[in-house]
Amino acid sequence: MKTYKIAVLPGDGTGPEVVAEAIKVLDAAAKKFNFQVEKKYYDWGGERYLKTGNTLPDDAVEQLKQHDAVLLGAIGHPKVKPGILEKGILLKLRFDLDQYINLRPVKLYPGVETPLANKKPEDIDYVVVRENTGDVYCGIGGVSQPGTKQEVAIQEMIYTYAQVERCVRFSFEEALRRHTKDNPWRGLKKEDIEAGKVAQVTLCGKTNVLTYVFGLWERVFYEVAKDFPAVKTDYCHVDATCMWMVKNPEWFDVIVTANMFGDIITDLAAMTQGGMGVAAGGNINPNGVSMFEPIGGSAPKYTGLNIINPLAAIGAAGMMMDFLGEKKAGAAIENSIAYVTGNKLKSMAAGKMGYSTTEVGQLVIDHL
Ligand code: IPM
Ligand code: MN
Repeated sequence: MKTYKIAVLPGDGTGPEVVAEAIKVLDAAAKKFNFQVEKKYYDWGGERYLKTGNTLPDDAVEQLKQHDAVLLGAIGHPKVKPGILEKGILLKLRFDLDQYINLRPVKLYPGVETPLANKKPEDIDYVVVRENTGDVYCGIGGVSQPGTKQEVAIQEMIYTYAQVERCVRFSFEEALRRHTKDNPWRGLKKEDIEAGKVAQVTLCGKTNVLTYVFGLWERVFYEVAKDFPAVKTDYCHVDATCMWMVKNPEWFDVIVTANMFGDIITDLAAMTQGGMGVAAGGNINPNGVSMFEPIGGSAPKYTGLNIINPLAAIGAAGMMMDFLGEKKAGAAIENSIAYVTGNKLKSMAAGKMGYSTTEVGQLVIDHL
């Protein structure tokens, strides 16, 4: 029997509550699909920082590298100044584990209310491939004469050819994972299908203003596209992308974009799929250790009340098993979430689900 070593980082706020449900579902899936999960828990987060003054132990990355994957709850503590835990834990792990893809599926599950009028589950079903190691997230820049009216602040948007290339390539491969000849993307026109296309990747950029960085992205995008004749290419400026995500989300299959734009558009996307209670993502290093997380934060005001929605964390665990090769378990978790949203939950919002956090975890297990 195959055993997966999972590092579990419950983190802060409601993180531990949602991770507990994800682990409960994972254990049930393991039993059902015949694999084992060996968990090791780490207490990294705000509480530990307040006690020790350290965000992470020196060998944190080395420890995580001993595992097959990482499951993360939430990082963020009301008593810690913004930036310290985000940069010191979340971004540090993404960078040091070279998790160069942030894969964020945008999927409206049945029964989930979307603020987009008249849009149905079949209209909102795409993935955002967010580059996860470059851009203004590099932390390169500085200030001079701080605190004066002459203050200068610089924060550099940085991309290398290699960074863009590996990310764009992943997005085309992802498009082919999502669709095959027998299951082409529904947004394709007849002439696309006749031309042998099965999927689409949209580059989201800003080539009209950020001419250096997105000039590079655009060139690389069309260069890589040559290796994927079955994938239709498309380009949207980031502002227009936001517009179409609201008006015509059915136009998207895979969106690939840089780190900052990806951060912003995936919060918009999460709201269209029913909010932070359902949106899951994976920080992926295809050749290393990946880290899966609910996109939402630590929600301090709901902590300990057993009312937070655990579906995003459970979805993240499903993505993790799919990524590790347990396709049946990943699909069963996703299908069970869809059953539960479609037939059980009254709302996706904390305290309004009609069930407690732990009951929702159990419902997913009952329908695996
Ligand atoms: C996210 C978050 C993080 C980001 C923050 C907490 C650093 O917003 O995962 O989207 O900006 O990447
Ligand atoms: Mn974000």
